[in-house]
Amino acid sequence: MSTGVWPKEREPELIAMRQSGVTTRHIAELLGISDQLASYHLKDVEPITKMLDLLPDYPEETVRIPEGPCALTADWHSPYLSMLWVRRLFAVCTKLKVKRLAIVGDFTDLAWISHYIRKETRGSSAEDMEITVSVLGMLLDFFDEVYWSWGNHENRMSNILLGQDLLPVIGRAVAKSHKGRLITTDQQTMLLGNDWRLEHPKTFSRDAAKVAAAAAAIFHKHVACGHAHHFGMKYDVSGQYLGIDLGGMFDIGKQEYLHKGGITVLPAWTPGFWVYKSKKMLPFENALVDWNDYGTA
Ligand SMILES: [Fe+2]
Ligand SMILES: [Fe+2]
Repeated sequence: MSTGVWPKEREPELIAMRQSGVTTRHIAELLGISDQLASYHLKDVEPITKMLDLLPDYPEETVRIPEGPCALTADWHSPYLSMLWVRRLFAVCTKLKVKRLAIVGDFTDLAWISHYIRKETRGSSAEDMEITVSVLGMLLDFFDEVYWSWGNHENRMSNILLGQDLLPVIGRAVAKSHKGRLITTDQQTMLLGNDWRLEHPKTFSRDAAKVAAAAAAIFHKHVACGHAHHFGMKYDVSGQYLGIDLGGMFDIGKQEYLHKGGITVLPAWTPGFWVYKSKKMLPFENALVDWNDYGTA
């Protein structure tokens, strides 16, 4: 049997309490009434926390590349990639015995599904994809493991397909007929060992490694970034963590944007890549390497 009187005048306040997640038993105690009476008056009130629980959440599923040697690349913009830089990557990795590759976003350009209007009319999405599939196969023959995280250009696929993404399926299909293992993630972050974050950030700066160093200060890890098409390194404000810009495997001569888009006050794009080995980060960029040492001058 219920006891006490339901205080009608306080009902809005009591409904708000129940919505916030306070139990009917606790409300009954506060009012000095029975549990049954409080439950009867509040039975139709859903705590908002319950509704929030129905929303999706996104658990941490960040790909972690196990500690060990790994070539770090970004911004291939396939099919507008540079075969010279691919040869250099293979020559360096052969000499340094590196059998794992990270691609930190913008491996594919996907120009044909860009919302930017292209002036160039040669080629087609099918031809572009054929080159991309061939290059990916080549990488999976050379490397034992290829880790590929998404950049803003990979995201063009899901943007145009209303959230669907065919790139992982295409990747798996290619990997089936090559010896290397392909690991893809639609996140724009990967981890390398315990000390490095590999990022394709949303933020851009004209100053090489500035975004990477700022991110390093936030995450208390060394940070390697794609996206800016710069090459460089910079310590964070603490001086403990390193930020690097990865350069890119793009072919500058094939970038329509650079030739037909008018002038820019941004720095020139700098091709290059890095190799992580024995917990050291080694730079491979024209100003820093004599390519004769690798037979790829
Ligand atoms: Fe890019
Ligand atoms: Fe990008």
